[in-house]
Amino acid sequence: MTEYSKGLEGVIAAETEMSFIDGKKGVLEYVGIPIGELSANSTFEETVFLLWNKKLPKKGELAEFTAQLRDRYAPPEQILDMIRTLPKEAGTMHVLRTVISALGMHDDDANANDLEAARQKSLTILAQAPALVAAFDRHRKGRDYIAPDPSLTFAENFLYMLNGKKPTETMARAFDICMILHADHGLNNSTFTARVVISTLSDIYSALTAAVGSLRGPLHGGANEGVMVMLNEIPTVADAEKYVMEKLANKDRIMGFGHRVYKAKDPRATDLQKLAKKLAEDTGNTDLYEKSSKIEEIMEREVGSKGIYPNVDFYSATTYHCIGLELDLFTPMFALSRLGGWSGHIIEQLTDNRLFRPGAKYVGPHDQPYTPVEKR
Ligand code: ACO
Repeated sequence: MTEYSKGLEGVIAAETEMSFIDGKKGVLEYVGIPIGELSANSTFEETVFLLWNKKLPKKGELAEFTAQLRDRYAPPEQILDMIRTLPKEAGTMHVLRTVISALGMHDDDANANDLEAARQKSLTILAQAPALVAAFDRHRKGRDYIAPDPSLTFAENFLYMLNGKKPTETMARAFDICMILHADHGLNNSTFTARVVISTLSDIYSALTAAVGSLRGPLHGGANEGVMVMLNEIPTVADAEKYVMEKLANKDRIMGFGHRVYKAKDPRATDLQKLAKKLAEDTGNTDLYEKSSKIEEIMEREVGSKGIYPNVDFYSATTYHCIGLELDLFTPMFALSRLGGWSGHIIEQLTDNRLFRPGAKYVGPHDQPYTPVEKR
């Protein structure tokens, strides 16, 4: 047994060929390609192919992969019926967790865990998840479900199903970039969760359901919603200083800052910052961007020396808001993208599986007498 590491900090618990992170230098690569190269040049579909196949697709391979994804956009009718029965005030991440779990009940071969089955199921779940989120959002607003359009990209199709009209090229591309940036990130908590579950040779639906549950926590993917709440609590740029200083004095966390791995600025935050700035200007939301960059300036001055910088969630809040997404869809957006990463990790885990079963350091008493209940 090795030494106890609280929160498994510094522990290497899996091998992956998907993403590489240098937290000190602020580097993130997918299969060796810097994230900035992918966000500038790739698409979400191509990025998922890259993560699952460890190589960029040739033209024909990409066309085939995209066609397979589009063929599967439509979720089972029974799941759509189920969504229509859900409480309208339900949390969107609770809904996503529940519907991913429910998909398993409509798969008559749900337990199949061979690599081909894992790939096929991953493709189907990834393809259908946007329709599930959009269907719930429309249900809670009393609107009719909009069926997916297989002529659209993953990003276009989601925004179309959500809003009932095709997005502009700028909005679709911005959303696509967000999807690329969130797709994979080493052995983060939700990915680890997915790998732990599948390592028992449980099923993909169980592993992904657990991963969604992990992601929604405010210390993980839920932080993007926390950032927006904070931006709304700060009336103007001029109020940011007082707000942040009071939070730091109270030892409160500033959402969207800090990371277990990065001790420099998260490279995804750098990309999202550029995107947030442009979209904020285009959509008349410059106040959100200005408040964000002021908060970053104060945080760098106050806690930059401790290695606390913006993470992926910080500028994604402004970006998602400018794309027109409601606050409680921010974390589901993260999940739609990360389904690509989770699935890739599930496939890697199944390829060379070993059951996760770490030890616990027992810190309780020994040799205690058993006292009968009437004498306690
Ligand atoms: N605001 C203020 N102080 C912070 C923050 C923050 N966001 N993050 C860390 N710190 C401080 C802690 O108070 C602590 O200070 P101390 O040493 O004086 O006590 C020090 O930095 C180290 O903090 P830890 O909690 O030990 O760092 P850890 O690696 O466990 O935390 C975490 C990483 C959980 C992400 C943390 O930075 C945090 O809570 N951030 C806010 C939530 C957030 O944005 N989460 C999203 C992360 S990215 C993702 O999951 C997609």
